[in-house]
Amino acid sequence: MVRLVVTNRAGQQVKVEASSGISLMENIRELDSSVDAICGGLCACATCHVHIDPAWANRLPQRQEEETLLISDSANYIAEQSRLSCQIQLTKDLDGLEFTIAPEEF
Ligand code: FES
Repeated sequence: MVRLVVTNRAGQQVKVEASSGISLMENIRELDSSVDAICGGLCACATCHVHIDPAWANRLPQRQEEETLLISDSANYIAEQSRLSCQIQLTKDLDGLEFTIAPEEF
């Protein structure tokens, strides 16, 4: 079990008991006011955009080029914090991860 601290689009902070071995997006998409994840995790829509807490940002695996290209076009892009949650595989090392769901853009 991996614990997440998520601030949703309504500004509410919720604690989530998540599963490792699947993506961050898959763990949070059913929450209220969460990501839309329209493409289902194919790195093609950017509707799974999250802002990682600065204390955690450097502890995640680096973005791949495909993720960077897609997310950097977002109006809510923050270079040091923006990630596509479908591109982050959740591991036990990420227990306690804090992040905010980025505002909806469409
Ligand atoms: S779910 Fe579409 S890019 Fe992540």
